This record gives sequence, C-alpha cells and structure tokens, in this order.
Amino acid sequence: MKATNASGTNTNIDFGCVSLRYWEGIELNQAGENIMGRVEGKVAIITGGAMGMGESHSLVLAREGAKVVVTDINTTAGEATAQQIRDEGGEAVFIEHDVAIEEQWQSVIDQTVEAYGKVDILVNNAGIVIFKSNENTTVEIWDKTMAVNSTGVFLGCKTVFPAMEKAGGGSIINISSIYGIIGASNTAAYQASKGAVRMLTKSCAVDYGRYNIRVNSIHPGVIRTPILGGLEEDSEAIKSVLGSTILQRIGEPIEVSNAVLLLASDESSYMTGSELVVDGGYTTV
Ligand SMILES: NC(=O)c1ccc[n+]([C@@H]2O[C@H](COP(=O)([O-])OP(=O)(O)OC[C@H]3O[C@@H](n4cnc5c(N)ncnc54)[C@H](O)[C@@H]3O)[C@@H](O)[C@H]2O)c1
Repeated sequence: MKATNASGTNTNIDFGCVSLRYWEGIELNQAGENIMGRVEGKVAIITGGAMGMGESHSLVLAREGAKVVVTDINTTAGEATAQQIRDEGGEAVFIEHDVAIEEQWQSVIDQTVEAYGKVDILVNNAGIVIFKSNENTTVEIWDKTMAVNSTGVFLGCKTVFPAMEKAGGGSIINISSIYGIIGASNTAAYQASKGAVRMLTKSCAVDYGRYNIRVNSIHPGVIRTPILGGLEEDSEAIKSVLGSTILQRIGEPIEVSNAVLLLASDESSYMTGSELVVDGGYTTV
C-alpha cells in the first residue's frame, strides 16, 4: 500500500487492485490531521428538514462541509434550521415543499441547481405516521400516508435523476423504518408505505447504478423526535418496543444522522441498494 500526502493535492492509496481515488484532494493541517469535512463541497437536499431527524441530518451534513437545501411544509421551523446552519458558518437555504406534489419537486431541483450549481445528495426523509390497525384505516388515511411516505420518495428519486446524471453521480438516501421490514400493530398504512420505500430503493439502485448514482435505504428504530407525538417513554407502546431493543433505550436523531452521513459521503462508494438498520438491535431478536 502506498500513500503520498503533504500539500493535500496528491493523495492516493493504492492497494494494487484498487486505488482509492476519493482520498484525492484531502487537506491536512500542520499536525497532519484531516481538516476537510466528510461531504465537503457536496450539495445536499434534505426533505422534512424542519424538525426531528431531518433537522439533525441537515445540521450534520452542513457541519461536514455540504451546502444544504432544507425543504419542508413547515416554513417557520424550516427557515430556523437553515438559519442555524448559516449562524454556524455553513451554507443553507430553505424551500417550502410538499413532497407529495410533483411540480414542487421540479422547482426544488431547479432552485438548488440555480443556487449551488448541482445536486450530489438527496435525503428523502419527510414522513408521517397515523397509528391505526388495518381495519380502522380509512382510504383517506391510507392515501395520505402513501402520498407523503411513498409517492414523495418516488417523486424525489425520479426528479433528482437528471441533475445527478448530469453531475456524473450522486447519493440518494431513502428513510424507511424498521416497520418497512418487520410487522407491528396499529401501523398498517405506515408499514405498507415504508415497505414500498425499501423496495423502490432497490429498484432505483439497479436502474441508476450505471450512472454512478447510489441509492440506499435507512431503517431507524424508535427515535426521539416529534413524530412520536404523545407517546411517553413509559407508555405501553414504547415499553413494548424497548423490551425487544438490545440496547434498551430509544435512539437519538444524531445516531441516524451518522448513518446518513456515511451514505452521503464517498466513504460508502461501494454501497448501493443496501438497507442500513439503525435500531439498537430491535430487529435482531
Ligand atoms: N422517529 C422515529 O421513531 C422514526 C422511526 C423510523 C422511521 N422514521 C422516519 O424518519 C423520518 C423522519 O421522522 P421524524 O421522526 O424526524 O419525524 P418528525 O415528525 O419529527 O419530522 C418529520 C418532518 O417531515 C415534515 N413533513 C411532513 N409531511 C411533509 C410533506 N408532505 N412534505 C414535506 N415535509 C413534510 C414535517 O413538517 C417534519 O418537519 C420519517 O420518514 C419517519 O417515518 C421515524
């Protein structure tokens, strides 16, 4: 293995059969530490970036060097996320955006390219849950859940494709759920919508791979965000989940953002079509 590095312009690690090109351009400080962010220079769109995990993903990607486009239906909280990034010295804009509306997607992509010149990363994070068993799920609840959680992801993957193709590649990260993999009570429409995200991710990974566009899904367990609504940590529903969670606690948004960061960065350059579970071990037992 050979590694050359000093000025930050000639870094290449050669394993004989594989040369890690993405190490090129690494910038070191005088102590020899890497001072570049893990997504330095990349442009990221995060849907549902106003609150909860989307807010956390936006902040983490910005802190690691990405220019961030925060989108959400919640304009006040969305503007606040973008402002926090700018206050920290990062680059961000907020765009009002309902992921279920096709025309708004094209506008988000166009505005992103206009502002920052390209799109490298799309995090399809926006989602809703309405707790109902199947027999109590109305067509209205079903359609609303599918529109945001499934159609929103479908439109995102579809609309961003030409921009990523033009840029020579990209990373799409679709937020599914453990409930896109295993069953649970009172979440019929949500589970169906998240299962669709899991398989759409694999379909897009196959179709987009030749364009160097990677598509992966993340499957969080129970994470402390506003989506949990009135569910207290000592509620029966949460206690029953924690009973099967190996790590015996609810997850924090940052713990999912760290997985987003991995998939957004070139460190995951050989990952596509994968499903990354971040659930404290819930689906293991
Ligand atoms: N929190 C959990 O335990 C958990 C577990 C697994 C998966 N997830 C998934 O993670 C994602 C983020 O969830 P969260 O817990 O941060 O939720 P949250 O409710 O805290 O945040 C969701 C965000 O999406 C936005 N949003 C809702 N509908 C939208 C729409 N039509 N268009 C654009 N934005 C919209 C909301 O305004 C909000 O800012 C969701 O897809 C959710 O299903 C959450």
